[in-house]
Amino acid sequence: MRPSSFASPRLLALVLALAAGCGPAAAAETVRIACSGLGQELELCRSESAQWARETGNAVEVVPMPADATQQLQQFDAGLVKGSQLDVIQVDVAQVGLLAGRLLDLTPYAHGAEKLDFPGMLSNSLVRGRLMAMPWFIDGGLLYYRKDLLNRYHQPVPRTWADLRAIAGTVQAGERAAGNGRMWGYVWQGRAYEGLTCDGLELMAAYGAGTIVDPAGNVTVGNPATVKAFSMLAGFVGTISPPAVLDYSESESLAQFMAGNAVFMRNWPYAWAASQAARSAVRDKVGVAALPMGDGPAARHAAALGGQELAVSKFSSHPALAASLVMYLTGEDVQRRRAIRASFNPTIRGLYLDSEVLIANPFTSSLQQVFANAVARPTSITGAKYGEVSAAFYQSLHDVLAHADTPESAVLKLNVRLTQLQNAGGW
Ligand code: GLC
Repeated sequence: MRPSSFASPRLLALVLALAAGCGPAAAAETVRIACSGLGQELELCRSESAQWARETGNAVEVVPMPADATQQLQQFDAGLVKGSQLDVIQVDVAQVGLLAGRLLDLTPYAHGAEKLDFPGMLSNSLVRGRLMAMPWFIDGGLLYYRKDLLNRYHQPVPRTWADLRAIAGTVQAGERAAGNGRMWGYVWQGRAYEGLTCDGLELMAAYGAGTIVDPAGNVTVGNPATVKAFSMLAGFVGTISPPAVLDYSESESLAQFMAGNAVFMRNWPYAWAASQAARSAVRDKVGVAALPMGDGPAARHAAALGGQELAVSKFSSHPALAASLVMYLTGEDVQRRRAIRASFNPTIRGLYLDSEVLIANPFTSSLQQVFANAVARPTSITGAKYGEVSAAFYQSLHDVLAHADTPESAVLKLNVRLTQLQNAGGW
């Protein structure tokens, strides 16, 4: 049961939003929504949008977006313009600030419903006090592991990254010796894109190396802990991780894990529901834990904070209808269904009291600390320059992974590049 204290503002917003979508004078119109396709995202976007269309007597066209966050941003850069027919977009938490100039302020349509969201998600949606997007789900990096394989080789869940490297190596060697030539120890996201910024940031924070740019605006990559984090990741490539990991995003890692070809995987919460699906070769064999910690005095477990929101294009020719669809999809009922069916962590605080949501996603309560302490990318402080900061970071880390540069030299160059960005007019 959901307490009415948190249900009512969201419900009010929804009723008003639906009313905006189906006034007697309104002729049926088509709203175009761009949705991404990780796990069951696209399928759920289609079915839930179709429900809104039925309820309001309008039509929805779903435009599939690439699942890769950097490619998405490139498409939005081109697509959020006058005359483009995109009305609603699914936008990464890391990109709300970058796209804000082309988005509609949703304040008049939300009727306070946004106040039910986690404060961190809400502050990410506010740009100069204007509500540029409605929070939809929260991501945090997680470690998925094969319970059956760890049992078979009498190995524990790794506590540190060095443990992970050793355990992954042992199980991989054992499985290969037993004839499973396709087995790898660890799959993750090594492509030069936004996902690698998340994976790299997790390692840096785990070793106490900071968060690329700290909240006060200082560049924090020029330290031995960053070199250690880069070296650790690079050491995985070709040993416990396939060389192809250099071009893996979330989907490729998940495909390998679901086919039964990996002991460990780094991914987001949606991968839980996917790995438990009927077509998954690892159904009932998967455990979820916090990502390992580094070593040294400042070592900690660190998960990157991710998530997605829904926003309306400033150039939409039917903004009220588009906002009505956003309020419906980010409303409590849809967030609840998406959490139960597909492990998308809700942004509405009250849904964490919902027993069906908690049963469907056992890690939500056992790993509460992971989400509570998740590490944000430096999007707020670097503002409009975040795209360049992230690209500089993932490109230099990718050079190290590809053995095109040493960790020491890549970190030095990255420090110079980020300092130049900072010095050119500040953040
Ligand atoms: C997920 C996260 C997003 C992140 C992206 C990186 O989609 O929700 O915040 O930027 O992965 O690949």
